[in-house]
Amino acid sequence: MEAGSRSVVSSPRFGDDWWQRGIIYQIYPRSFAATDGDGVGDLPGIIDHLDYLGPAGLGIDAIWLSPFYRSPGLDLGYDVSDHALVDPLFGTDEDFDRLVAEAHRRGIRVVLDLVMNHTSDAHRWFVSSRMDRSGPYADWYLWRDPAGFDVDGRPLPPNNWVSFFGGPGWQWEPARGQFYYHTFLAEQPEMDWRTPAVEEAQFDIVRGWLARGVDGFRLDVFNAFLKHPDLPSNPTRPGTSEWRRQIHLHDRDQADFPDLIGRFRSVLDAAAERMSVGEIFDGSVETSAELTTDHHLVFDWELLEADWTAPAIRAAIARRESAFGPDRWPTAVLSNHDRPRHASRFASSITGAATDPIARAAAVLLMTIRGTPFLYYGEELGMTDVEIPLEDSVDPPARWAGPDFVWWDRSPCRTPMPWSSAPGSGFTVGRPWLRFGPDVATRNVAAQAADPTSILATYRSLIALRAATPVLQVGALRLLEADDADVIAYVRETSHALVLVLFNVGRRPARQRLPAADSPLGWRCRFGTSMLTPSPRVIKPDVVVDLAPDEALVLEALR
Ligand code: GLC
Repeated sequence: MEAGSRSVVSSPRFGDDWWQRGIIYQIYPRSFAATDGDGVGDLPGIIDHLDYLGPAGLGIDAIWLSPFYRSPGLDLGYDVSDHALVDPLFGTDEDFDRLVAEAHRRGIRVVLDLVMNHTSDAHRWFVSSRMDRSGPYADWYLWRDPAGFDVDGRPLPPNNWVSFFGGPGWQWEPARGQFYYHTFLAEQPEMDWRTPAVEEAQFDIVRGWLARGVDGFRLDVFNAFLKHPDLPSNPTRPGTSEWRRQIHLHDRDQADFPDLIGRFRSVLDAAAERMSVGEIFDGSVETSAELTTDHHLVFDWELLEADWTAPAIRAAIARRESAFGPDRWPTAVLSNHDRPRHASRFASSITGAATDPIARAAAVLLMTIRGTPFLYYGEELGMTDVEIPLEDSVDPPARWAGPDFVWWDRSPCRTPMPWSSAPGSGFTVGRPWLRFGPDVATRNVAAQAADPTSILATYRSLIALRAATPVLQVGALRLLEADDADVIAYVRETSHALVLVLFNVGRRPARQRLPAADSPLGWRCRFGTSMLTPSPRVIKPDVVVDLAPDEALVLEALR
């Protein structure tokens, strides 16, 4: 495709409000589908499965691709050595252009993951920057003189900042006689966004991807871009790790950061229909809400961290609703490439639970709470975390985790997508870069596509229901009082439609009276986790319904 000739999204389901109404599917390219036998997923593999994702399949509206840029791969692509090029591991630049065109042809938009807080130490900017203090990139990274020298003549770091990945945050560079800061690996030096040329270079990269047809961006750890200009030490407090023993006052969430996001948005707003979503780094739901603006979403981690109990889920929903209020649009996220898969996480948060029923009920939660759903690949099959022995894990911080640095290994939630029961599970003809789960012979796309009772069938029905029901896309959310301590009840409503959602997240049956005041004419069942086809019959306005453990129901008010 010629530079600047943006491929057009053909008949998308939604227009400029797609970032609000649509569903965004996260692909971890390494684990989606491998076409060249090296056991690592690639861009052609994604192209091969667009029909599975598109309107004739799952029915999502956009794909978010975790990084596929040139990278030494120490943080599996979040250490970028060239932001504008495809890493040969994942294919070619032509493959990328083809992916955009093929996705657009099916009405699927494409969202890229931009890693702009840091680069790889192999990036040419850093290679030059670390050489001396006077080159063109000398001030592109966070360089500082030592605070002094210890009795042995060793340089002392400029302040007390540490790395989120464990250990010191400052790395000594003898060539410059200075330290540089890194929030993550020492091989991921932090950029200095207060240097105007850095902002310009980053925005140029953004413009380049926009010209190639990209529809949106996920911004990696975006609230960490700006640091306090003087880099003061953070205040300290008691905590369970070096990172937690600091109050992160000066290394993120700076007062002038919203202006930077405003400038970033004006680059995107030069064209229509482009969205962005910020990954809040180690921050609260209130910060997420404050940084949310038009067409710019911000993840919050309330539901990603909640236990599978009614009080925990209700509290998470209530906190989100009060933080975002009616005017800011939240996201809905239960899983991603950094956290345990939600079926595993929820099931292990209580006793006596199986993952599949929870996966079905969680699908209802994801598709019916207020906010743009982000669906992590494989969740639609009810995938669980796969046990990976530490020696096979490919998550660097997992290797140095210990009592004072607790780390959840991220490999178990990044395992390959099982497409079929063929050798290599239809993912690869080679040796997969991470192993499959023990249930791969039955938990795969082919098996679930043929089974109308599967979790995949649940997702397909729910996604179709959401697409056909505007109140589920844009309606306000109101939590209701439940009759049973294990029941969660909420409505989604607009001035002319109302949908009631009920869950029993307890281990025993529960009963709930329907709120007649919200629908004097009664209800129609639109979806139930234990029904193959929803019952078309009309339910009386104040009937008492029985809910089995992990059952969820979606009822529409008759008007
Ligand atoms: C984000 C990414 C994570 C990565 C980190 C550093 O949190 O989601 O995978 O390790 O940033 O780039």
